[in-house]
Amino acid sequence: MAEATVFSQHTPQGTASPEPRPAAPGAGREPHSAAGAGSGGLPEGFEVIPGAGPAQRPGERPTLRLREGEPEEPPRYAPEWLRLREPADAAARSAESLDPLRIRLANLPSRHGGLIVHDLGCGTGSMGRWLAPLLDGAQHWILHDRDPYLLHFAAVASPRAAADGSRVTVETRRGDVARLTPDALIGASLVTASALLDVLTREEVDTLAAACAGAGCPALLTLSVVGRVEITPADPLDAEITAAFNDHQRRSGLLGPDAVGAACEAFAAHGATVHTYPSPWRLGPDHRELTAQWLRGWVGAAVEQRPELRPRADRYLAERLEACAAGELRVVVHHSDLLALSRPTGGAG
Ligand SMILES: C[S@@+](CC[C@H](N)C(=O)[O-])C[C@H]1O[C@@H](n2cnc3c(N)ncnc32)[C@H](O)[C@@H]1O
Repeated sequence: MAEATVFSQHTPQGTASPEPRPAAPGAGREPHSAAGAGSGGLPEGFEVIPGAGPAQRPGERPTLRLREGEPEEPPRYAPEWLRLREPADAAARSAESLDPLRIRLANLPSRHGGLIVHDLGCGTGSMGRWLAPLLDGAQHWILHDRDPYLLHFAAVASPRAAADGSRVTVETRRGDVARLTPDALIGASLVTASALLDVLTREEVDTLAAACAGAGCPALLTLSVVGRVEITPADPLDAEITAAFNDHQRRSGLLGPDAVGAACEAFAAHGATVHTYPSPWRLGPDHRELTAQWLRGWVGAAVEQRPELRPRADRYLAERLEACAAGELRVVVHHSDLLALSRPTGGAG
């Protein structure tokens, strides 16, 4: 199964985000600012933190990697990128989704034992830092990711208390969430994810929906990109960059901007009631660092997808970064949150 380089450009909030520790030499986890032109990397101005865009290390071939049959590890998200986006993610996630979720959780048969929450593709754990303090009652979070480095950050900066002061505990599980089975979710009260769906394939989203339906537990899957961006002031190149970026996201069969539609279909096919909520990033002068990184990743991916854009994209990016630094740029990156209420099976919670 093929997988493209990571760059789902989503986000979280929180105050407890961990400080990144120095990466082990050669581990490939450092924020490799890309090599300059001529060393196989991205050209000057397109350097991005891994996760924000198609970053490459010197000599590394670009985005495409095979998940099976290749010794290379999957692409990684730099904790710096996840930390940078955490406040914007937290501000963006829809609070509206929490009302129907709370009702469902309140009606769990054995709620008294506390909630068991599985956070898939947890990264450094921003979803838990956002959601745990918004829900009442004791919670045990099971944080899943394939990257042990990110799991380490998630464990050390985990949320400690629920909305009503009840205890929150966590454990981490390393693995491929695309292969989740209903058995892995036995006893789950809730499945969450943030900025994950669009880096999965349709088949993987179907597997996830089947696992949630099999376990009878609701799923709150936040911050999937939907492929729409508004930038003020507008530029004639906005639409072309957007289209090229969206095509880049769909490379190798990943869902990219089609993720929410595919997930709605998958969960509905398994009998779930599905709600979606807008959850846009609204970036202005207070988010210059995030906006600049996002721009580099967004334009860099577009150029990787359509190299003929490069001369115009160079000019475009330089002007956009200048406006951003001057506090004159506003960006709305549209996302969607999805709440899927699977039919309870009686064993949850
Ligand atoms: C965009 S990051 C989001 C991280 C975090 N949820 C957040 O909102 O900050 C996507 C995360 O999903 C993880 N991931 C992607 N595909 C995965 C898979 N198939 N199995 C396990 N983890 C995966 C990545 O390692 C990364 O931590």
